[in-house]
Amino acid sequence: MTKRTIVALPGDGIGRAVLDEAIRVLDAAGFDAEYVEGDIGWEFWCNEGNPLPDRTIRLLEKHKIALFGAITSKPKDEAAGELSPDLQGKGLVYSSPIVGLRQLFGLDICMRPCHTYKGNPLNFIRRGKYGSFEEPEVDVVIFRQNTEGLYGGVEWSDPPQQVYDALMTHPKFQKNFGHVPKAEISVSTRIFTKKATERILRAAFSHAKKYRYKSVTVCEKPNVIRETSGMMYKMAQEIQKADFPEIQLWNTNIDAQMMWLTKNPEDYGVIVAGNMFGDIVSDGFAGLIGGLGFACSAQYNPDTGIGVFEPTHGSAPKYASYEVSIVNPIAMIESSCMMLDFIGENEIAGKIRHAVAEVIAEGKVRTYDMMKMRGTPDVIKEGAASTREMGDAIIAKL
Ligand code: NAI
Ligand code: MG
Repeated sequence: MTKRTIVALPGDGIGRAVLDEAIRVLDAAGFDAEYVEGDIGWEFWCNEGNPLPDRTIRLLEKHKIALFGAITSKPKDEAAGELSPDLQGKGLVYSSPIVGLRQLFGLDICMRPCHTYKGNPLNFIRRGKYGSFEEPEVDVVIFRQNTEGLYGGVEWSDPPQQVYDALMTHPKFQKNFGHVPKAEISVSTRIFTKKATERILRAAFSHAKKYRYKSVTVCEKPNVIRETSGMMYKMAQEIQKADFPEIQLWNTNIDAQMMWLTKNPEDYGVIVAGNMFGDIVSDGFAGLIGGLGFACSAQYNPDTGIGVFEPTHGSAPKYASYEVSIVNPIAMIESSCMMLDFIGENEIAGKIRHAVAEVIAEGKVRTYDMMKMRGTPDVIKEGAASTREMGDAIIAKL
């Protein structure tokens, strides 16, 4: 095995604590790599006016694979206020560096698996017949289109005149909004392209085929959002018919799906959705398998082989300053397993996943979230494992 170079992007808040554990676990599992650290996040926004410095972009161009912790994002005005004094008033506008990375490198395929861990006290439980309790096994993989839709960044408040004029050519805009002063209108567009839609659909179907899932569910809202959701569903029908006839195609609306996922989560296999609905439905399913401490993700561009692997949780700023970190590193560790799969190191990934599963099943070492505690510095005294202790326990199993 040749030594790999991995770009380590700790980012903000708890990002570093969880990333450190993932790297320790990778080392212990025998993954031969060196890690070069890239700058990203709030500190670089405040001090340089850019949360995603060019040097970080070049690192990813060169090494192609990154592990990413989390970043802090704040609303536009608050962000401007926190710029260092010499950068104030220069018209710098904050935008999320992780959304930026996705767009810059065309990381349009986002994959978020949600699998039940045996023995996780946070597993979803439902009431069955005659007062019984059931713990359905969830095994769902969400494919989220990662670069377009509501995250495309094409939006305005008080839109420019040409945009407004163009909108006025639409009869529904004229009827429903034509009487509203332009200055009182905000527009966020939801743009889907055929190319990107086809790519995410094919990624979802191919995954279903490879791992023998019986269904792919398009989770959108085609009855109301006719053009974008409608296009995705129509293309899914064509792709399924032409290339994946052995896989069932299901169609759910995002709102109904959020209700059904607590009624019959075991029925779903692969789910595919646009950017926003994919984000929502993946958080929904993550809630059934233990929440943000367990939710991992991969985002990649299959053409370039560039991939960024990150937990779905954010920087959890309220826990960032704890002397002993209490957050659960499993989501980050599982994300690094997705990285290993992506670069063909499936055996090491399997070893790590096995160790994680064993620690959870054994139940001796549990972070505060797994003990259903409120997160405070006291949880360690009350028996919860720290981030480091969870890492240690996984390493011991390896
Ligand atoms: P968050 O995911 O950071 O935290 C929400 C809550 O989830 C936490 O208070 C904590 O109770 C729990 N949690 C998160 N990670 C955990 C872990 N590893 N172990 C145990 N519990 C965990 O979301 P929030 O509070 O909405 O956002 C905080 C900041 O993170 C914001 O600035 C937001 O913009 C940013 N964010 C960044 C993301 C990214 O880097 N991709 C994704 C989501 C939010
Ligand atoms: Mg999210």
